[in-house]
Amino acid sequence: MSDTILIGRVPVKRTAALAPMAGVADRAYRLMCKRFGAAYVVSEMVSAKGICYSDRKTAELCTVTDEERPMGVQLFGNEPEFMAKAVEIVKRYEPDIIDINMGCPVPKVVGTGAGSALMKDADLAAAVCEAAVKAAGDIPVTAKIRSGWSADTVNAVDMAKKLEAAGAAAIAVHGRTRDQFYSGAADLNVIRDVKQAVSVPVIGNGDVTDLPSYLNMYRQTGCDLVMIGRGSYGNPFIFREIAAYENGEEYVPPTVGEKMQTMLEHIRLMLSLSEKSEELAMHEARKHAAWYMNGCYGSAKFRGMCYQLSSYAEAVELAARFEELQLSRAQ
Ligand SMILES: Cc1cc2nc3c(=O)[nH]c(=O)nc-3n(C[C@H](O)[C@H](O)[C@H](O)COP(=O)(O)O)c2cc1C
Repeated sequence: MSDTILIGRVPVKRTAALAPMAGVADRAYRLMCKRFGAAYVVSEMVSAKGICYSDRKTAELCTVTDEERPMGVQLFGNEPEFMAKAVEIVKRYEPDIIDINMGCPVPKVVGTGAGSALMKDADLAAAVCEAAVKAAGDIPVTAKIRSGWSADTVNAVDMAKKLEAAGAAAIAVHGRTRDQFYSGAADLNVIRDVKQAVSVPVIGNGDVTDLPSYLNMYRQTGCDLVMIGRGSYGNPFIFREIAAYENGEEYVPPTVGEKMQTMLEHIRLMLSLSEKSEELAMHEARKHAAWYMNGCYGSAKFRGMCYQLSSYAEAVELAARFEELQLSRAQ
């Protein structure tokens, strides 16, 4: 198995990528995952129409730092003209890849006809993709789809073929229908079917939470790249474990002390990248802090305390108390 794939002209290590996650995978999160070995990262979704009308948050959402590369900027929209204009704007930020969101299930996005609503109109999806491809020039355009809109209308294969014909350089498939939102299990067979139907790289996504599920995604689907979303919550270590496996190196899981140090590094990064006050930025950091405690003794109570944090100093203190609790239990 080759250790690198090409998305258009962009080489990406054939290990695991970080999935785009609005409200979660911001720059600090992407950098943490990158530092731990993520092969590829994608921005939070950005409204194509939104950036055509206002540039208020464009720079914050679309800026690509060198440490994040290779990185994709993800757009959502259902109007080819706006998609083309948005691509022109996004190009200024020199993303490695431009990705189009065709999987978002939330009513606010679907209600506008974008996100997974495009699964209901493969021809429109292809027209949006084609407009983006034309505007993007030599930047590869990819699409991220679901298995279908509903269990009765699973059409990922048809979508993928049309997107490939429209010039998509890779297709990411989340093996759930829109109706499932994030519940139930991802159907890996749909991802396999897409892989068999197109020649561009297929990115397999859904329910990869550890090394066995990562290996299974490659094995069961034959996909070209695995993409991990929620399995990376408070767990950038998943990328280190995968990288160690792929490099034939021994993997040493993090101690609680390392988890807490990594949590604090993540919070420091969030604070340093935020233009908000420490208190407001800490509000955004709370859920991340809580996630780093998942799966440890006493984490339910401590996670509750994470949601009270309003300064970095408090986070340091809480991390020390959490570590002490684990050590006292081990004695
Ligand atoms: C909080 C959250 C935000 C998400 N935001 C996006 C997004 O902006 N764009 C996108 O294509 N998918 C988004 N997704 C979907 C994920 O990229 C991914 O497809 C999904 O979570 C399934 O993968 P997983 O089982 O590894 O989490 C989001 C998912 C979550 C949980």
